[in-house]
Amino acid sequence: MNHFEFRHGRLFAEDVDLVALADKIGTPFYCYSTATLERHYRVFASAFPPDTLIAYSVKANGNLAVLNTLARLGCGADVVSGGELKKALAAGIPAGKIVFSGVGKTGAELELGIRAGIHQFNVESEPELEALSKAARAAGATAPVAIRVNPDVDARTHAKISTGMAETKFGIPWKRAREAYARAAALPRLKVVGVDVHIGSQITELEPFEEAFARAAELIAQLRADGHDIARADLGGGLGVPYRAQDPEPPDPKAYGEMIARLTRGLNVSLILEPGRLIAANAGILVSRVIYVKQGDEKRFAVIDAGMNDLLRPALYGAHHAIVCVAPRPQDDTETYDVVGPVCETSDIFGTYDLPQLRSGDLVAVLTVGAYGAAMASAYNARTPAAEVLVNGDRWSVVRPKMSDDEFLGLDRLPPWLE
Ligand code: LLP
Repeated sequence: MNHFEFRHGRLFAEDVDLVALADKIGTPFYCYSTATLERHYRVFASAFPPDTLIAYSVKANGNLAVLNTLARLGCGADVVSGGELKKALAAGIPAGKIVFSGVGKTGAELELGIRAGIHQFNVESEPELEALSKAARAAGATAPVAIRVNPDVDARTHAKISTGMAETKFGIPWKRAREAYARAAALPRLKVVGVDVHIGSQITELEPFEEAFARAAELIAQLRADGHDIARADLGGGLGVPYRAQDPEPPDPKAYGEMIARLTRGLNVSLILEPGRLIAANAGILVSRVIYVKQGDEKRFAVIDAGMNDLLRPALYGAHHAIVCVAPRPQDDTETYDVVGPVCETSDIFGTYDLPQLRSGDLVAVLTVGAYGAAMASAYNARTPAAEVLVNGDRWSVVRPKMSDDEFLGLDRLPPWLE
């Protein structure tokens, strides 16, 4: 469910006319809906007990305005770098609602988290335990620790976003978990508080989660028997969203919440969940203008002004995103187009679409790009990433402008010998 809909034949974001907005601010731009973000957060949060920490995964969409919108609802954050930690804090998310994940936290990042007083470190290796203990001693504080265990479960999602199998770099193998917890308990200035598991992203069935969470529940019992005070279970993110109308609907948050309630019944742990995509994906679209319609030998191409530098998912994962015309002319026939960006790579293609006849200057919208869209943008081909706009009812605001070519150029420096 989202708040992008056609009114009188034109696409609106809440009460904002996207044709008028594009004329005003230029294209391409990401457009996020406040109402959709809020709705997704509320639907997700209401599927869990009130003491659950919903730690939105900042990597999905770390725009300060998006984070601030969620912070006002009581949302926490899952961060994976010092940069994300600073963003979450700057957006008003209290440190006590922030968990820090990631395989490669540096000593400086760990210390930043400790000094901020975050809720929990999700530690992914034995060397990281040592580094965290050292950072805690340096800061004169105690670091709350959960160990991310790798449950060796196949999430049955795209290989590039699957994280819970033994061969991936993530977490500590679950068979070695008890040793790792013993080490954590023995190290100065660490306080063991929980268990963490995250098996991947865009997961569209409950079974892989269930397998992983059952393993985590078993481990919690063993760890308690070993004398650890396990009060929290962080079950990660990963619940998928529909990208194609014809795909089976992924389980809804309620079914996910019920499955988790069943598996954690009697465990007496408070839950932490780290949804990213589920909150943000459907709350964002990418509005772009057709530059040229070009007839090839075999195909007709619509070259649009957004490219793989703005939205990498199709090129990187072969991901599909629906595309619609923002203001289709009712009398026009449908034609088949390869919708492509201007970047000099064959993989700079969104896909093949049947769309009402396109002309140069027409607007299109790429859908379900609020998660891992702007967040993964680059300036490849010296194309600065698309602007980002947040809509709220009939109000809109540019929450990240597109950097100008001159600003971008100004980031480079000549070494003294070339000046
Ligand atoms: N927690 C951890 C530890 C994670 O690594 C991730 C995502 C999440 C939570 C949030 O997962 P979500 O609820 O969004 O599925 N760039 C890829 C997705 C990479 C996900 C990485 N980790 C894509 O565009 O599909």
